[in-house]
Amino acid sequence: MAIQRIAVLTSGGDSPGMNAAIRAVVRTGLARGLEVYGVRHGYQGLVDGEFVPMDSVSVSDMIQRGGTGLFTARSKDFMTEEGFRRALMMLESFKIDGLIVIGGDGSLRGALDLAQNGIAVAGLPGTIDNDLAYTDYTIGFDTAVNTAVSAIGNLRDTSSAHGMVTIVELMGRHCGDIALFAGIASGGDIIVVPEKEYDMDDICRQAVEGRNAGKLHCLIIVAEGAPFSCAEIREAIQERTGMESRITVLGHVQRGGSPSAFDRLLASRLGAYGVDALAEGKKAIAVGIRNNEIFDMDLAEALEMKRPERTELIRLGEILR
Ligand code: F6P
Repeated sequence: MAIQRIAVLTSGGDSPGMNAAIRAVVRTGLARGLEVYGVRHGYQGLVDGEFVPMDSVSVSDMIQRGGTGLFTARSKDFMTEEGFRRALMMLESFKIDGLIVIGGDGSLRGALDLAQNGIAVAGLPGTIDNDLAYTDYTIGFDTAVNTAVSAIGNLRDTSSAHGMVTIVELMGRHCGDIALFAGIASGGDIIVVPEKEYDMDDICRQAVEGRNAGKLHCLIIVAEGAPFSCAEIREAIQERTGMESRITVLGHVQRGGSPSAFDRLLASRLGAYGVDALAEGKKAIAVGIRNNEIFDMDLAEALEMKRPERTELIRLGEILR
């Protein structure tokens, strides 16, 4: 039987472009003659029954906004047996035939649990971390990288003015992509990511070599999941080279802000595709982008994939420094 009513939620850490994805889901659903509900506060809203009917105007003036108009949460209740059962009951009582979940790894795992309990689900990759192996890009990653590049540009100025070592921590949880992409794009001198092993002596020597070669600045870009913390790097630099250094932790600045055109377009394409896939009867899928083509695959298989090693980009960062 054809589906009649779908719901959409955003879950986990927000990412710029989530609003563009919600908008695409709502408007594609309406264009197909479906009823569309938004679920507020992610899985917590599913547990609590926070379903709101969405119309075209409810997603107006939204494509350019960061954050998520449906709000988000990292729900502990949903992880409990009782909370999960309540979520299933809510989906049944609101007669939801298909659910779109926009979120990162943990959120898509929650979606898989729902799918394994008979709910038709399409997972869309929404996280700044770019840590979902099945897709080339996640919604929000490009914006976060641009935010980081802009901040590192500012830090470069003051680093050069003082001849100082600047150590910048970027987000990404266990994934080094934000640091790697932003590090290369901003001409970082040393990029430290979880995907590689490092020797602290090498890091310190490279800082000295840069200074000896006449570089005014030294930008060390560190992913939050890297094998060394910024504090450890700073201590080693100070002790072993005597060079003055400062740490900047960019933090949640990377999560906010108006999404880039890339993220808006990606989110719009993913959102529309997710609705089409549910309308075609697909039940447990992850929607992603590969080689600029939007595609879907089995959700369980998508979550088991291993991330690329990034050997080429890591090498590029080392050559271009
Ligand atoms: O997953 C997005 C992210 O911003 C990660 O990069 C970071 O590790 C984490 O969320 C921070 O989460 P919270 O805001 O809950 O501390």
